[in-house]
Amino acid sequence: MIKIRKLLILLWAVTSLQAQSPMKPIYLDNSQPVEKRVEDALSRMTLEEKVAMCHAQSKFSSHGVPRLGIPEIWMSDGPHGVREEIEWDSWGAAKWTNDSCTAFPALTCLAATFNPDLAHAYGVAIGEEARYRRKDILLGPGVNIYRTPLNGRNFEYMGEDPYLAARLSVPYIKGVQQSGVAACVKHFALNNQEMWRGHINVELSDRALYEIYLPAFKAAVEEGGVWSIMGSYNKFRGQHCCHNDLLLNKILKGEWNFDGVVVTDWGGAHNTQEAALNGLDIEMGSYTNGLSSMSVFTYEDYYLAKPFLKLLKSGEVPVSVLDDKVRRILRMTFRTSMMGERPYGSFVNETHSLAARRVAEEGIVLLKNDKQFLPVQAGKYKKIAVIGENATRSMTEGGGSSTLKVKYEVSPLEGLQQVYGAANVVYSKGYSTGPSVYGRVIAPKENQQKLFDEAVKTAREAEIVFFVGGLNKNHEQDCEAGDRTSYNLPFGQDDLIREILKVNKNLVVVLVSGNAVAMPWLKEVPAVMQAWYLGSESGNALAGVISGTVNPSGKLPFTFGQKLTDYGAHAFDKLSYPGDSINQYYKEDILVGYRWFDTKKVKPLFPFGYGLSYTTFEYGKISADKKVYAATDVVKVSFTLKNTGTMDGAEAVQIYASQPKASVIRPAKELKAFKKIFLKAGETQTVNLDIKVSDLAYFNDKTHQWTVEPGDFVLSNAASAGDVKSAVKIQVMP
Ligand code: BGC
Repeated sequence: MIKIRKLLILLWAVTSLQAQSPMKPIYLDNSQPVEKRVEDALSRMTLEEKVAMCHAQSKFSSHGVPRLGIPEIWMSDGPHGVREEIEWDSWGAAKWTNDSCTAFPALTCLAATFNPDLAHAYGVAIGEEARYRRKDILLGPGVNIYRTPLNGRNFEYMGEDPYLAARLSVPYIKGVQQSGVAACVKHFALNNQEMWRGHINVELSDRALYEIYLPAFKAAVEEGGVWSIMGSYNKFRGQHCCHNDLLLNKILKGEWNFDGVVVTDWGGAHNTQEAALNGLDIEMGSYTNGLSSMSVFTYEDYYLAKPFLKLLKSGEVPVSVLDDKVRRILRMTFRTSMMGERPYGSFVNETHSLAARRVAEEGIVLLKNDKQFLPVQAGKYKKIAVIGENATRSMTEGGGSSTLKVKYEVSPLEGLQQVYGAANVVYSKGYSTGPSVYGRVIAPKENQQKLFDEAVKTAREAEIVFFVGGLNKNHEQDCEAGDRTSYNLPFGQDDLIREILKVNKNLVVVLVSGNAVAMPWLKEVPAVMQAWYLGSESGNALAGVISGTVNPSGKLPFTFGQKLTDYGAHAFDKLSYPGDSINQYYKEDILVGYRWFDTKKVKPLFPFGYGLSYTTFEYGKISADKKVYAATDVVKVSFTLKNTGTMDGAEAVQIYASQPKASVIRPAKELKAFKKIFLKAGETQTVNLDIKVSDLAYFNDKTHQWTVEPGDFVLSNAASAGDVKSAVKIQVMP
């Protein structure tokens, strides 16, 4: 009886407490529209609290509003795995034991899949990992355009074609954000080289800007609905990109109506007035870009901290400018950490490994395969030599900010041993390089001549040789903060390949890199494969393709030139690349990548969109649904595709457009559609693709309009930019 009385009293106390408690504030009520929550939260904040939100409080976090229960914002690299935890205020590892991630293939590999569905699976998986690790922003994807094969960060991007990069970044972003984690597309914009990246001023035409360098960012904003974007280190038309009025205020927030947050690159802010007025929202990493040492400068001294508060208090900058920034930050918070039903995420599981493996398998590009040298079935050889440092070196480490601490990584050697039997495989390094560092080259300790000689001996005694080389994410070898210094393979690999060829012609060259390289030995090597940085599942994917359990279907997302000067960026003087250390002019203008090679009739080593399969495909003739179109129409093209070989396989078919007679220069051809088609051996499919007539426009810098010039256009179906199968002419009416 006493117990029941006590219970009743407790019940009464709880209900009366609830009745007395004030109504939930609107900003905490996730049934309310986001904009209402934003306004409510903003109205409760002090000036100081608002300013605090606009800058970092640690290396990878920015302030919330503790008094109101609005969480801090936690960020992480990106773009192909969730980076390990680092210390609060240094780049040193925090040495946690719960932060070893799944490494996904670097984005060049994702681009090479030509498969938007896989890009979505990739985004979902990495988004879940970021969510589990309690991140609010994942610093990726990177969509800067591949302008020169020397750029140290090309491996983090999606190649030379704006259409391809756009089509793959949109599903990646959507996939990430479905976990309540903001993607942060980077680096906006024109960060196309690492040389002098902190200050080089890029000059180029509006046309090149809009046609080549902006479309992937625009698609990320308008189609991907990306919640944040990172400014780039360099300058554009005299202003740093992290506070560039034209890029951020006029284009991003004006023309594209971006309603998310602009974050600086780490150390990308340089001036309070510009940072305040030119569209920057959150300042990160000031006074250290990861390379310079710490200074006495504190987070309160950031450009958007105390100095900003001072300008606001004196009235030099209106509070409305601050409110706009805070609205954006709050909006992102209500989309992520305060979204309500936020998924929990997951970390390192079979689904993520599978996504990583599928991207790796579909991204590997078979470049050469004389007389069906590959695949090499298990059991065929008993004496197999694997040569090259990249067969064993961890490729998830290095490269700069995208370096990863991984749960596991299957090396190419382990993958090959698994398939061919460890007893049948002999490994020889051939050359060695120092550890992964950015900003420095560390000399290796081993005797290089000895390694070289041993490798040649191993090759001589083997029935077949797999040479696994390439670049290695070390300084100046596909790494942030430095460009490559040569187009050739480093560390004497060209010589080693030549020597191996003298003693064993059964050679497969596997290139692990995020960039094109010269191949002076190409004619004599029967099989060559471009294997990118493949992440945790590296060895499994590679061995699968080499042994034929996987039929390769990757296609190159950028052109492999014969030599460096074949590229548009390198066809001019130093002012075009790398600039004179102050300014740089993109002299090739809109003719980037295959647009240059095709228009100028320069024969590449391997064209954009190229990649072989173990089966063969026959393309039918392309046809269009009509002959004449209005500017608002959609052209429906179709053709048949037949798998004429004996193995199931996939082909990334491509549609290019050209306008033979135009009043302005137009590239010889431009990618306008693609699709990855999976076909069983012998199967035929009709491929249907849509191209909007408006997508045939060029950017008219005089009128600042996308303009479709009436007249004849040619649409062709192709297996690569260098392999057009057939064409159809259409007419666009005024
Ligand atoms: C890189 C960014 C990266 C940031 C944080 C910078 O050095 O340019 O891409 O997200 O560091 O690590």
